[in-house]
Amino acid sequence: MEQTLIILKPDCIQRRLVGRIIQRFEDKGLTVAAMKLMQFSKELAERHYAPHKGKTFYSRLIDYITRGPVVVMVVRGFNAISVCRKLLGATFGSDAEPGTIRGDFAVSATYNLVHGSDGPESARTEIGLYFRPDEVLDYESATDTWVKRADEL
Ligand code: RTP
Ligand code: MG
Repeated sequence: MEQTLIILKPDCIQRRLVGRIIQRFEDKGLTVAAMKLMQFSKELAERHYAPHKGKTFYSRLIDYITRGPVVVMVVRGFNAISVCRKLLGATFGSDAEPGTIRGDFAVSATYNLVHGSDGPESARTEIGLYFRPDEVLDYESATDTWVKRADEL
């Protein structure tokens, strides 16, 4: 099963949307495999967003993600990386389709509530920034056999 790193960004916590946003992932049939509330230091923010260093929005992004606590989660499921990206919607809230998290809750280009890894390599790297292997739990969920057939690709 694929794993991805999801971050509920500071605006999500401040707007008290944590429960409703986590519900979106659960509703889709994905499993929360690890989760913690934490505050990003500038150093950690710079490591997480290193691929964006040098871009015009980089300093705005570091200010944003360090502005308050975040929830970091490992989410597991069939094609979890692309499924989560679809649930998130387009980067800018103003472009995101209704029905997506950003489409339903965000209008801003920066304050877009949630992060999702953009590929298998970034998922692996990003999960390693926040969780030890033993903190990512592999457990059976009671509904798994009703979410997807075992013989489905
Ligand atoms: P994320 O990494 O947070 O899941 O978002 P994403 O892949 O959809 O977008 P990405 O290009 O990776 O950008 C990272 C975050 O930077 C902020 N951003 N601001 N032009 C701008 O003002 C701008 N572009 C991006 C957003 O917070 C975006 O999620
Ligand atoms: Mg990204």
